[in-house]
Amino acid sequence: MRIDIATLFPEMCEAILSESIVGRARKKGELEIYCHQIRDYTNDKHRRVDDIPYGGGMGMVMQADPIYNCYNAVCEQLGAKPHTIYMTPKGSVFNQKKAVQLAQLDNIFLLCGHYEGVDQRILDKIVDEEISIGDYVLTGGELPAAVLTDAVARMCDGVLSSPECFQDESHFGGLLEYPQYTRPEIWQEEAVPSVLLSGHHKNIAEWRLKKSLEITKEKRPDMYEAYINNSEKCQK
Ligand code: ADE
Repeated sequence: MRIDIATLFPEMCEAILSESIVGRARKKGELEIYCHQIRDYTNDKHRRVDDIPYGGGMGMVMQADPIYNCYNAVCEQLGAKPHTIYMTPKGSVFNQKKAVQLAQLDNIFLLCGHYEGVDQRILDKIVDEEISIGDYVLTGGELPAAVLTDAVARMCDGVLSSPECFQDESHFGGLLEYPQYTRPEIWQEEAVPSVLLSGHHKNIAEWRLKKSLEITKEKRPDMYEAYINNSEKCQK
């Protein structure tokens, strides 16, 4: 998979996406991520990329042209149009289901907004969908783009050692993950649940499902409700 991020702060995205599992996958060539400086695509002699809003109001608006030039340069490299997402608090809220969908794609282009927004005409021209990472407003789309990229990239082939690494965890099957334990067996007089030491795979799986259900019911009653409704539907 290849992800292109168009931003005024490429170093911000690079700082996050060069580390840990995603950074390693990039070095191994399992994943291509490019962070583009939109300012490099302006024809303005002062390298301006924004201007005051028509109709008046606070702040500056990012201009269409530099973004369009950046997008076109990426399209030319790919020989195709990438699935294009604008990161904005106005978008639909990101979740694991959307991450799974996006992980099936070959090319994604992420546009990070800044200032008071982006000229609507470029959004109408290139954007396939708008995504928010939650109901709060950040200073720009860079952290949201890095969050989305991390969530999507870890499900691409070759990034994690096996699909089981993400198929078992919180949100994947509609439940939160069961508790995990590691050595030592007793820590500050607290023992690891004995079933986990039993080597009995069926009992362990049952215990984990029971814990997942309990935790989800307590912490995310909305997810629990949806899971139960869905399982009832599947049994009909
Ligand atoms: N830009 C600013 N806030 C954002 C958010 N919550 N999600 C996506 N992009 C954003």
